[in-house]
Amino acid sequence: MAFVTALTVLLAATGSSATPFNRRATDGLNIRAVAAGKQYFGSATDNGELSNSAYLSGLSNTADFGQITPGNSMKWDSIEPSRGSFSYSGGDTIQQLAVKNGQKLRCHTLVWHSQLPNWVSNGGFDNATLISVMKNHITNEMTHYKGKCFHWDVVNEALNEDGTFRSSVFYNTIGPAFIPIAFATAASVDPDAKLYYNDYNTENAGSKSTGAQNIVKLIKQYGAKIDGVGFQSHFIVGSTPSQSAQVSNMNAFVSLGVEVAITELDIRTNTPATSSAVAQQAKDYAATIGACKAVAKCVGVTIWDYTDKYSWIPGVFSGQGSALPWDDNLNKKTDIYNAILNAWGSAPTGGATSSAASSATVAPPASTSAVRSTTTSAAPAATSSAAGPVVAKWGQCGGVNWNGGTVCESGSSCTKFNDYYSQCI
Ligand code: G3I
Repeated sequence: MAFVTALTVLLAATGSSATPFNRRATDGLNIRAVAAGKQYFGSATDNGELSNSAYLSGLSNTADFGQITPGNSMKWDSIEPSRGSFSYSGGDTIQQLAVKNGQKLRCHTLVWHSQLPNWVSNGGFDNATLISVMKNHITNEMTHYKGKCFHWDVVNEALNEDGTFRSSVFYNTIGPAFIPIAFATAASVDPDAKLYYNDYNTENAGSKSTGAQNIVKLIKQYGAKIDGVGFQSHFIVGSTPSQSAQVSNMNAFVSLGVEVAITELDIRTNTPATSSAVAQQAKDYAATIGACKAVAKCVGVTIWDYTDKYSWIPGVFSGQGSALPWDDNLNKKTDIYNAILNAWGSAPTGGATSSAASSATVAPPASTSAVRSTTTSAAPAATSSAAGPVVAKWGQCGGVNWNGGTVCESGSSCTKFNDYYSQCI
């Protein structure tokens, strides 16, 4: 009876009809990524979608998503729509959601030729003035988000397909120096943020990848700091670069002294997707996750939203889509989801098998905690204590109704993800 009461309370608190017997809290895309030594598995999101409570629940499930990226609301047209007038409400909503959920925030993006207001692209500024405008934008936005963004996409998509510089107001007015100037400005404002160059079609060897490597060298030659390169990875089913091609390409960047991340992954196909396309798509997802897993300096993977419902693809590529691990109705696509899980490797101790995970719903516990907090850091010598059995790394160590151990084995700390789940990591 007491159990039934506790169950009722839990379901009421979560607002979910999900059974507590599903194993979602101990397994998921992010949990597997972290178990594989990565910093996160994450998703992009956008402000309009957050009013969909089922969507928001799925996005807030830190077992699947340990990181989020604002898809639009930190871009120039959102932040500084007119000169000197800054508007942070949309970006703040997503930043505050990340804090509430205990998720890392990749901030996107400071200098991009697209979603750039007319006052910049057609402003007719001379070299010195545009440099000043760009520096002012970077400084204002990064100051506002200082300490809140663990990554910043400082410059986005500066290259043509042949690896030459793309024509843009920045390149045409300032020349290639706009890139190192942007990075130097960013580093001066928030020295702790990891500063990224981000682009697409740079995921395997070729002219554009070489161009991106030259951008890394250019920034360093100017004496500026670049920490990472983001591979957007907007792939097509059946044309996704092989795992080995992605690994060797990542390593070419790593050898230049930067980390790498997969920043906007989706793998599109003609819709409706055929069963053979889905089978190939599962392999393509596995190749991409496997590549990041294989490269120690690949720090994590972000999908460009998690559900087809809010994917950018159908609006841009007519007749294509079905690119993400959740469908238009927010149902998990088990073939794709399990392909990602399994590509990361085995579940952490105490975690679910991929088939158990596949039966989990998207609805997570509602979190009331503001930030992830470490509650236990002692390294016990014993295998049990007054706090119960010592919990192995990756095991659960706390949460509402948790009756197991709360002390983590040596080398791990009990870290709170939400009121219902803490894990030894
Ligand atoms: O905000 C307006 C709204 O007021 C208007 O009613 C509506 C009508 O179409 O448009 C809204 O703006 C849209 C915006 O997304 C916000 O939803 C734009 O039309 C639409 O073009 C814009 O698309 C975004 C696209 O970047 C623009 O290039 C996508 O959501 C966003 O996912 C996409 O993300 C990019 C990355 O930043 C960089 N890499 C490629 C990736 C995919 O294109």
